[in-house]
Amino acid sequence: VNADRVAAFDAAVAADERIEPRDWMPDAYRATLVRQMAQHAHSEIIGMQPEANWITRAPSLRRKAILMAKVQDEAGHGLYLYSAAETLGTSREELLDKLHAGRQRYSSIFNYPTLTWADVGAIGWLVDGAAITNQVPLCRCSYGPYARAMVRICKEESFHQRQGYELLLALSRGTEAQHAMAQDAVNRWWWPSLMMFGPPDDASSHSEQSMAWKIKRHSNDELRRRFVDICVPQAEALGLELPDPDIRWNEELGRHDFGAIDWAEFQAVLKGNGPCNEQRITQRRTAHEEGAWVRDAAAAYAAKHAPAQSS
Ligand code: ACO
Repeated sequence: VNADRVAAFDAAVAADERIEPRDWMPDAYRATLVRQMAQHAHSEIIGMQPEANWITRAPSLRRKAILMAKVQDEAGHGLYLYSAAETLGTSREELLDKLHAGRQRYSSIFNYPTLTWADVGAIGWLVDGAAITNQVPLCRCSYGPYARAMVRICKEESFHQRQGYELLLALSRGTEAQHAMAQDAVNRWWWPSLMMFGPPDDASSHSEQSMAWKIKRHSNDELRRRFVDICVPQAEALGLELPDPDIRWNEELGRHDFGAIDWAEFQAVLKGNGPCNEQRITQRRTAHEEGAWVRDAAAAYAAKHAPAQSS
């Protein structure tokens, strides 16, 4: 490899400049971005399923309209991210094929079921809250197209987080049964939400290199701690409890201590053995197959209306 190109890449990263699609980049940097961005895009697309489960049963027209808009936003996020990944020379078809073949991951969190309406609130508050905590620093990612896609995604995620919080607040202040339903949802989503940040730092295979390349700006544990600190006062305001008796303020460190995460559960979900892995991927494959006619029709239409090629 041309030493000048390597030096130019290293200097751009060191100076906090953005790497753009036409710039030279190390193969491993490209591969890491494709892996992370594909996983991120797949998470948005698979993440539509647990919430879509409640669209037909939303308790009012207002809640239904909000939930439909939110699920459509997730589809949009997936599409921006696939487009951003295409700038690295990989096609959307290729990434989707890898997802369907189980060769690329999506976030562990979407392998849990949405058992009650309150789960829609808990997903907004906790899952989208965790996503924002992880994604705001990605707006400063060294790869330009990914960083720019994250700006709009984070704005929309903030709206999602607030709608979840407001939904849970309404339930928490509602009847005794509604309050209990909200608490049950928080009990079930809290620990999986903490797992979204990835394995602990000493078990995170990619963190060190990704941080050196400024793809990641903070470690998994650092962001997880930040999230716990954000949630503790919010839970109090909601009148709900976080299901962890070990959460307490650590004066010396200026942050909350919290209990041990069940990493065996996380590993089981990553291996495909979570409560809904099978269902999620089957539904995704079916949706893809059933949508084949739409892709064919769109391609035929585009070909028909393409300006004639001059030879
Ligand atoms: N779910 C599934 N897989 C995960 C998760 C998770 N929550 N966390 C880590 N992993 C995987 C990694 O992909 C990696 O897999 P591999 O070894 O097969 O490549 C392995 O576990 C080891 O983890 P790390 O080395 O820590 O991986 P990485 O540096 O990529 O950090 C993280 C993981 C923090 C999730 C990072 O990829 C990231 O910030 N991604 C962008 C955000 C994102 O994808 N959000 C999706 C959910 S949010 C939403 O869609 C609403």
